[in-house]
Amino acid sequence: MAEIRVKDAGGHGYNVIEWQGMYYPLFPGIAPRLEALGTFECRKEDILLWTYPKSGTRWAYSIVSMIKNNSTDDNSMDSIYLEKLDQEVFAKMASPRILASHLPRHLLPPDVWRKQIKVILVTRNPKDVAVSFYNFMKGKKNFEYTGPWESYFPIFTQGKVPYGSWFDHTKEMCKGVDSIPNCLFLTYEEMLKDLPAAVKKINSFLGFERSDAFLEEVAQKCTFSSMKRSEETREPNKFMREGHRFFRKGQVADWKNWFTVAQNEEFDELYHAKMADAPPDLKSRVVFE
Ligand code: A3P
Repeated sequence: MAEIRVKDAGGHGYNVIEWQGMYYPLFPGIAPRLEALGTFECRKEDILLWTYPKSGTRWAYSIVSMIKNNSTDDNSMDSIYLEKLDQEVFAKMASPRILASHLPRHLLPPDVWRKQIKVILVTRNPKDVAVSFYNFMKGKKNFEYTGPWESYFPIFTQGKVPYGSWFDHTKEMCKGVDSIPNCLFLTYEEMLKDLPAAVKKINSFLGFERSDAFLEEVAQKCTFSSMKRSEETREPNKFMREGHRFFRKGQVADWKNWFTVAQNEEFDELYHAKMADAPPDLKSRVVFE
């Protein structure tokens, strides 16, 4: 494991940890933690949010935690990433625990599948993910990244970003997803299109008995504007540079404001090549326009 400064296509540096050929964010102690995940003990009641970065993890967390707590009180996302916290911290958490991870499938604890815990998986149009990731890496202090979009675009398409290639990650994550017991597949776009329906779907999947009125309230509290507003009432996020916010735009197809025609053509070509061996049900689900 090494903390390194890598360069984007224009020579602008960004800080990452490299471990077994893949980049990760600067989480202290991440390598031994990843190695130890093989023995991570899941509990049957655990709920895992599993996503590629910038796909709506924080959003899904808010919905799940409000449903679990039977309360729409404002909640900031506690640190619950398997790759960020040591196992002793998780061991002390009360059940049902909400866990999260951006790790590829082969690095998740085998107990996830053995114990058949509930897994909620969210995907997002990779073009919007690229734009969101770019803004996030520029905004988060410890990346120390200042490159322009045109220099970032190639590192995203080549998977030289934390957690690697969106294509590999998504294909691996979604392989056989319909046959995995206890797995709910959601897209960012369907959540945005009909949030009350997505909240109900999540609740039925989790099996909590919550009233329709409560679930409606959860949906209202989890709109982008509501979540952004409540973040603004908190202390400024000390991990972000001034002028950058975690709740950025929360829209579908913002990529159209960033991609050039040539970048879009290149991305489409790459998408079709990389997704050629993806399961047909995955291709039909991922929003790509
Ligand atoms: P943008 O940068 O496009 O605005 P993650 O939590 O996986 O890091 O994903 C972050 C992305 O989800 C950001 O996208 C963020 O604004 C968006 N997001 C967070 N809460 C949201 C909400 N309630 N509705 C829509 N998008 C939301």
